[in-house]
Amino acid sequence: MKSENYEFSYTVYDSVAELEPQDAWLLNEARTVSQYAYAPYSNFLVGAVARLANGEIVAGSNQENASYPAGICAERVLLSAAASMHPNIPIESMAISYQQPNGPSDHPIAPCGICRQSLQEFESRVKRPVRLILAGMEGKIIVIPEASSLLPLAFTQDELL
Ligand code: THU
Repeated sequence: MKSENYEFSYTVYDSVAELEPQDAWLLNEARTVSQYAYAPYSNFLVGAVARLANGEIVAGSNQENASYPAGICAERVLLSAAASMHPNIPIESMAISYQQPNGPSDHPIAPCGICRQSLQEFESRVKRPVRLILAGMEGKIIVIPEASSLLPLAFTQDELL
């Protein structure tokens, strides 16, 4: 018997001013795109914007539904759009932000479990990591070099014959 350890590294920034200009731009776009979310049930509006390896910019926002499970997160809207409009092109960086009319947006949020699963498979498909830039409308910013580091011991397509 032995115990194993899992760890990953990420960077925390105090403000947008500390980011590289292209990262600051992407984050500001994600903040803007959050206003296009359709989230009348949760009132939690998420925006995601990615820069692809070919320089294209792709956006996503969460789109809810009266049949709650039919709703889809901003990250997976973005991944679907990227794969449909620019097939097989890796994502260099994805910025994710949010706003809530009745609450704060002062800390980063990280992708939900289903989105982590989708991000892992996207990385595997295009053989390149997705770098995540996570922040609210204000406050600290977290940069994670590889999205799949958020999903240790993942179930992957390797299991399926
Ligand atoms: N949501 C996202 O779009 N991305 C996340 O990373 C977390 C949650 C959405 C799903 C739902 O529409 C609302 O936020 C509240 O969970």
